[in-house]
Amino acid sequence: MNLKDLYINYFISKGHKQIPSAPVVPENDASVLFNTAGMQPLIPYLMGTPHPYGTKLTDYQKCIRTNDLDEVGDTYHHTFFEMLGNWSLGDYFKKEAITYSFEFLTKVLNIPVERLAVTVFAGNDTIPFDEESKSIWLSLGIPEERIAATSEDNFWIAGETGPCGPDSEMFYWRSEDEIPVSFDPEDKRWVEIWNDVFMQYEKKADGSVIELPKKNVDTGMGVERTTAILEGVNDNYASSIWKDVIEKIEEISGKKYEENEISMRIIADHIRTSVFILADDAGVIPSNTDRGYILRRLIRRMIRHARKLNIDLNSNFETELAKLIINKYSKYYEEISKNENHILEELTKEKVKFSKTLEKGLRVFEKETANISKIDKDLAFKLYDTYGFPIELTTELATEKGLEVDTEGFKEKFKEHQEKSRTASKGMFKGGLAGDSETETKYHTATHLLNAALKITVSNDVHQKGSNINNERMRFDFSCDHKLTEEEIKNTEELVNKWIKEDLPVSVKEMPKEEAVNIGAEHMFIDRYPDMVTVYFIGDVSKEICMGPHVKSTSEIGEFKIIKEEASSAGVRRIKAIIK
Ligand code: SER
Repeated sequence: MNLKDLYINYFISKGHKQIPSAPVVPENDASVLFNTAGMQPLIPYLMGTPHPYGTKLTDYQKCIRTNDLDEVGDTYHHTFFEMLGNWSLGDYFKKEAITYSFEFLTKVLNIPVERLAVTVFAGNDTIPFDEESKSIWLSLGIPEERIAATSEDNFWIAGETGPCGPDSEMFYWRSEDEIPVSFDPEDKRWVEIWNDVFMQYEKKADGSVIELPKKNVDTGMGVERTTAILEGVNDNYASSIWKDVIEKIEEISGKKYEENEISMRIIADHIRTSVFILADDAGVIPSNTDRGYILRRLIRRMIRHARKLNIDLNSNFETELAKLIINKYSKYYEEISKNENHILEELTKEKVKFSKTLEKGLRVFEKETANISKIDKDLAFKLYDTYGFPIELTTELATEKGLEVDTEGFKEKFKEHQEKSRTASKGMFKGGLAGDSETETKYHTATHLLNAALKITVSNDVHQKGSNINNERMRFDFSCDHKLTEEEIKNTEELVNKWIKEDLPVSVKEMPKEEAVNIGAEHMFIDRYPDMVTVYFIGDVSKEICMGPHVKSTSEIGEFKIIKEEASSAGVRRIKAIIK
């Protein structure tokens, strides 16, 4: 059995309910691009909202961290990884959490106690030393010399504010060297494998720390790293998780891993992350902004390294590799096989697009950098604008040649360019064509109207579960236990159009979050909002906590039309609509 199954089975045997992995694109949180930890989708529940599956949960969660994107190429960085976790939402606390961790490591994974060490929270001005965790570890058989205490590294919080608390980390001795009696957390031969966070506090925006309504446990174990450790390999990419992917790259390129480790790791990592982003129902595709740009960078960097290995870019290497990933993971993530065609199509589309300019761009790069030591902003911008080289790709190429890049200058030039195109599209607007943001603003207000209409035409229990807007359409996910009837769809559409015709005024008011809730303003995750919120009112038909922007009055929206109604996930329906 693999680590993932062992973990989930163990925690189910301890009374936990398995919850499905949340999408990599956070459903109702525009503040982060991707889910970066197992606990992220659980924040509202850690803050006190009851979880539908109960108080003891376990899962494996898809995570994407792109701040280390350029580090990929070594033995242990990945842009996508899976995190195992078990949670107690106001149920058990330190004793059980640590005992479960110890038992799983030593009895299920059969790790000898001699190879383990732990850290606990040393305390600071406001929160005391975690003596309790230390004595639990001692009672389980971890010797005193193998328990270290730190302040900075043993307090966990995702970002700046939110649920947080002291933690206890577990380390494994990953070396052939003799194991030292005393544990030194700075010694890199000790590798962190698991983290038990005791979330009993909430950090506020003003820096103060208050007690949460309940004491929770949040734990996280990285699948890639722990699998490599259990299999006794020092290179994550040599573990069973990656072996077949690396072998496939060797086969396609006719080259050996040992001589091409960096490029092969980059290809393996980036294709897997791209597959998972494309598989997500959020519908991210390669573009020049936000998530779409991360995806584009991943695919383009992967293609550049494939070319470095002399892989024929006209072959279907990208879909061959993607299919391998899809087969491997579809047992765990249904959206991967469900969206297989879309994944393969988008990968190939982006490859074809980039292959067209890559050769020429590389030639320009070689020619223009022959006698210089620094790439100036104009060349960097030309590579971006004409040949589609993300700035990070230019920097990588430059580093390989020992050249510098004026990235600051590039950023300025990039901004100037954006401003120019914005002015151009405003000009078009004056001439009678709507610019991007105007259309999106209309869709935004239409979303509020749709939300309000569904409550009348379908059920008062309808609540927004997510939304996504672009220039062409809006998508709206909402809680609902049935497929909408044709009648319901028709009534909803008519009601929204009636409100549009009535030209209802849109107004906005800032107020404390409690007041917004009291007046019945629609909201999703109340715990995530700041203390003061903005509420948008549309006539007297809708009030919603929202950051805007919105149109001034509803007649600006035009005609609203529902083009599709379908299932999104269990108990959640999705409407796609357009405005004309
Ligand atoms: N939230 C903690 C982490 O990401 C434990 O899950 O390390």
